[in-house]
Amino acid sequence: MVETLKIDIERSNRSRLPQTDFTNLPFGKVYSDHMLLADYRDGEWKNFRIVPYGYMPMSPASPALHYGQSIFEGMKAYHSSSGEALVFRPSDNLRRLNISAERMCMPALPEDLFMESLSAIIDTDREWIPTAEGSSLYIRPFMFSADEYIGIRPSQDFTFMIILCPVGAYYSTPVKVKIETHYTRAVQGGTGYAKAGGNYGGAIYPAKVAQDQGYHQLIWTDGKEHRYIEESGTMNVMFVIEDTLVTPALSDSILNGITRDSVLKIARSWGMKVEERKISVTELVDALAAGKVKEAFGAGTAATIAHIELIGHEGIDYKLPAVEERVFANKVYRELEAIKRGTKPDPFGWIVKM
Ligand code: COI
Repeated sequence: MVETLKIDIERSNRSRLPQTDFTNLPFGKVYSDHMLLADYRDGEWKNFRIVPYGYMPMSPASPALHYGQSIFEGMKAYHSSSGEALVFRPSDNLRRLNISAERMCMPALPEDLFMESLSAIIDTDREWIPTAEGSSLYIRPFMFSADEYIGIRPSQDFTFMIILCPVGAYYSTPVKVKIETHYTRAVQGGTGYAKAGGNYGGAIYPAKVAQDQGYHQLIWTDGKEHRYIEESGTMNVMFVIEDTLVTPALSDSILNGITRDSVLKIARSWGMKVEERKISVTELVDALAAGKVKEAFGAGTAATIAHIELIGHEGIDYKLPAVEERVFANKVYRELEAIKRGTKPDPFGWIVKM
């Protein structure tokens, strides 16, 4: 805890907790009572404050609105049996936020300011951390340009914020995905590895086309040839092909997922064969057709471990084995949940208590 950072707190005089149904927490629809803000002005972060959650004024000329100069993170906190907030790998989220910031020509946020802000907002809204199995407090840090200028140039002023949502599962059922070979999410040299708002905005239409065809999500392929599997937009993708855990190697068009990394570290610690490499669409489709793909799942903060039940490619749907038969994905999900909730030791040092 940094003693030097002063955070002004204006408390809400009417908590929404009594009206909140913690047994029904659709992802991203319920927000806690407060939010944290900070301003970047004259080359430094200042004015850290917590205010009641609500609308805030911003310039209609902000480059965030016009040019998508905005980045975000997603992380989760869990309620421990002794009442503490257990936050999963927050330093890794900050590292990625700062990588995104550099790519989007935005200022880095120093670790001490980030941790202090996080700890303060979690402490203010501690009672919003859900306790039921499968639920958690989703933490959304984000940063955007606060310039009042619609010309294109590096911005000077920025806003950093953290909002909190108690959530249940992002996907409530196993997902059906389509391998996308027409639209493109990210290209070499682009912003795919950054958690930049525009990466997600541009993916909504192709995902909607797939949803109209009966799928939940896409599996994106590389933007050059559509030959290689990349990620799913809301999560990284992983496959158990015969006895090996296989996932696309990271590149500048794939998000470096923290859940992805956690799954790989756990798998390696169990002695599982793991391959991070290029996976061609042809290899995957041939393995699906030959029944060699035993498991397929997405890995993400919001999605956690999301079983994939079906993969569509060029009009053919390949069904995966029943979820109950999936040894690795079920085991790693349970292991991750136990570490996150503090019911099992944390050998990797991932949990920060707040
Ligand atoms: C997350 O998993 O935190 C994400 O950012 C996915 C999101 C687009 C819901």
